[in-house]
Formats: sequence, structure tokens, C-alpha cells
Amino acid sequence: MPKTQVGIIGAGPAGLVLAHLLAQQGIESVVIEKHSRDYIEHRVRAGLLEHRTVELLDRHGLGERMLREGAVHRGTEFRTNGERYRLPYSDLYGGRRMLVYPQQELVADLVRLRLDAGAPIVFEAADVMPLDIEGPQPRIRYTVDGQAEELDCDIIAGCDGFHGVSRDAVPPGALNFYDQHLPFGWLGILAAVGPSTSEIIYALHDRGFAGHMLRTDTVSRFYLQCAPEDDPNDWADDVIWDELQRRLATPGWTLSEGPIIEKTVAELRSFVTEPMQYGRLFLAGDAAHIAPPTGAKGMNLAIADVEVLAGALGDWYLTGDDVGLQSYSDTCLRRVWRVQEFSTWMSWMLHRPPDDMPGAAFHRKMQEARLEYVCTSTAAGTSFAENYVGIEWPAIEAGKE
Ligand code: FAD
Ligand code: PHB
Repeated sequence: MPKTQVGIIGAGPAGLVLAHLLAQQGIESVVIEKHSRDYIEHRVRAGLLEHRTVELLDRHGLGERMLREGAVHRGTEFRTNGERYRLPYSDLYGGRRMLVYPQQELVADLVRLRLDAGAPIVFEAADVMPLDIEGPQPRIRYTVDGQAEELDCDIIAGCDGFHGVSRDAVPPGALNFYDQHLPFGWLGILAAVGPSTSEIIYALHDRGFAGHMLRTDTVSRFYLQCAPEDDPNDWADDVIWDELQRRLATPGWTLSEGPIIEKTVAELRSFVTEPMQYGRLFLAGDAAHIAPPTGAKGMNLAIADVEVLAGALGDWYLTGDDVGLQSYSDTCLRRVWRVQEFSTWMSWMLHRPPDDMPGAAFHRKMQEARLEYVCTSTAAGTSFAENYVGIEWPAIEAGKE
């Protein structure tokens, strides 16, 4: 039976970055992906990379095109009642910057670098299943081109996203799940039009949240608060532009319109798995946790997890020390819960509360007070900045507090 050291399920940011970090330590892995290469290189998802994610990718030689083509961001804009505030997060957090670089481009870079190095990615694998995760020799079973395969591994990394199979391979009752649904949805719009702003805009409006995000010089990303159960096809293009125009409006600024290429609805949901490991199976990224998209954290968190996992696996293979592997979950969960708190807080600051929510009118007033405080107080702005740009707290992450 074919054998590898680490079997990685899923070729998203978590699985691919892990494969690279392992290879750089001389650890072999096989990445097994359900979809085709073309599909994962064109799937539109995230776009905003934290400072520490950019530094990590650069440090490991994975960010050459990202640094060349990504756009550096140092501040963001909030709008409410036609007023605009700029929050200079870079100035407030030691000069750290963020990068706008589409997730599918990063995935394409990571795939190309891995294949160029002659390392394996199995695409279009069906019926993928981690087996024997409790014992010393776990296996991954899958089918390619109608042919059943099995791969022996020392360790399995479940990096197969929120709807993957890895989390469900753990016996019932062994994991705890924390789940929270916010009463908001996001209609995500991709439009063939250049951006009308140089910085991301978050708007709090009586009709609901609106966001103007960036992708490239010719394509922009927008989000509109909608009901979580909305069907994107019920949102006509002219209604979308009308809502964006109204919710983002501010004197002296115009929003350019263009053809809408894609419309999707996402719910604003938190989900956390504790612990993120069971036997020889380690969960990373969306397979272990998701956060409301408001804080733009999911991809960054996925990469932060595998940085910890790669370090722990390196120690284990090199010296036999399993302290890092034992504490993998605890280490990651500190950051995960910080991100959950921030993303939930930011979501409640920017979304119109449901009309039937007790105290909705009061909450709406508090939102304005909160937003004004974040945008005008250095203390509050700095707290926002360190969470948004990506908090760095080595002492806590290393469990040394
Ligand atoms: P994924 O990217 O989901 O990768 C998992 C991989 O596993 C996929 O390729 C999948 O095809 C594969 N797979 C699934 N099941 C199987 C199986 N059974 N067998 C084999 N392979 C399988 N995050 C940010 O950081 N910044 C943002 O700006 C941001 N914006 C977002 C906006 C929206 C609208 C959404 C929906 C998400 C956003 N996110 C953002 C979240 C981010 O996209 C995810 O958190 C990120 O993709 C997680 O990476 P991952 O590698 O853990 O999982
Ligand atoms: C995105 O680019 O999709 C994005 C950016 C910032 C956010 C959320 C999403 O806060």
C-alpha cells in the first residue's frame, strides 16, 4: 500500500500551506482534493490577508506573486448616515499592513509551486475517508478515475473545509461543538467594474450593512446584508445596485456600476470544534471552525492553524518531542476564540438588527455610539486595529503566559 508521512485532506489554503511548510522541513505529504485543479483555482472566496499571514508566506518563499500583484492596505473606511471616517489601522498598530489578494490566486500559486517541486496533489478524489485514526497507522481511502486507493499515513491533517468529511470521522461524543447563528446574511456580489474606492468600505445603514471590497483593477466585490435564507436569484441586478448606491452614499462620491458576474448568499455563523484533534487526526482551518465573514478572518485563521501544526510535526519527526502535537488544539483555540469574539462584535456593530429583536431601536443607537468611538478614540481604534490586522501575541500562543 502507498505510504506517506502526513496525509492531507483538502487543497484549500490550510492543506496547501501545510504541505509546503512540511516539505521545507523534509516531511513528505500527499494532498488529496475532491475537486479539479481548475475548480479550486477559480472559486471566489476571501480577499484580505493579515500582516502575519503575508509575512509567513513571504518567509517561506510562497508569496512572490502575492507581493508583486497584491495591493497594500493601511486603512479602512466606515460610513454611517452619509458620514465617513477613516481608520488608519497601520499607523495604530506599529505600521503593519494588510494585503488584498484573491484567495483563488493564492491557491493557484500554492498548487503551482507544489507541482513544480514534483510533490503530489491528487485532484478529483471521490469518497475520501480517514480510517483508523485512533491507532498508530491511520489510512485515507479514496477513489480516483473509478479506482479505489488507500494511503497509509503517520498523521492525517483534516483540511477539508466546513463541509468536509474529516470532522465526522471522529467518534460521536469525542468532540464538543459550539455553534452560533447571527440573524444576518450576506449577499456577496462580484462585479466586472473597477473599484470606486482605494480602501475597503464598511457601511452601517438603516436598510442594512453594505461593504465595498476590492479584488482587481477590473473586478470588485460587494456585500449587502440580506436575510440568511434569501435566494440570490431573487435579487435582481438593478435592485442590488440601487441598494449599494443607497447604503454606501456619501456626499461627493460616486459608485461605478458594472455587470454582475456572481451572486451568492452566506450566513453569518460561528462554529468551533474542541478539541481540534483526535488520535492521529488533526483538524485545521474551516474543518475545525468558521467565523462570520465580517472580520475577514477565515483564511488567515486557517493558515495560522497550519503554522502551529507544521511546527509541532517538525518537532515530532526531528526529535520525537510530542509536546507541540499534544498542545496543538489549545494553542490554536486561543486565536480562534479571539477571532470569534472580534468577528461577532464587529458584525453586531455593522448590521441592522432584526425589527422583532427586543431592544432593536436601542441597539441601533448603540451601534452609532460604538462606531463613533472606534473611529475617533485612539484607544478604541487601536484595539480594533490589532484585531483586524491580526493580533500578535507570541507569549500567549506559546502557552507561556
Ligand atoms: P477551504 O478553503 O474550504 O478548503 C478546503 C478544501 O477541501 C477545498 O478545496 C475542498 O474542495 C476540499 N474538500 C472538501 N471536502 C473534501 C473531501 N471530502 N475530500 C477531499 N477534499 C475535500 N477569510 C479571510 O481570511 N479573509 C476574507 O476576506 C474572507 N472573506 C470571505 C468571504 C466569504 C463570502 C466567504 C464565504 C468566506 C470568506 N473567508 C474569508 C473565509 C475563507 O474563505 C475560508 O475560511 C478559507 O477558505 C478556509 O480555508 P481552508 O483551507 O480551511 O478551507
Ligand atoms: C473580502 O474581500 O471578501 C472581504 C474583505 C473584508 C471583509 C470581509 C470580506 O471584512
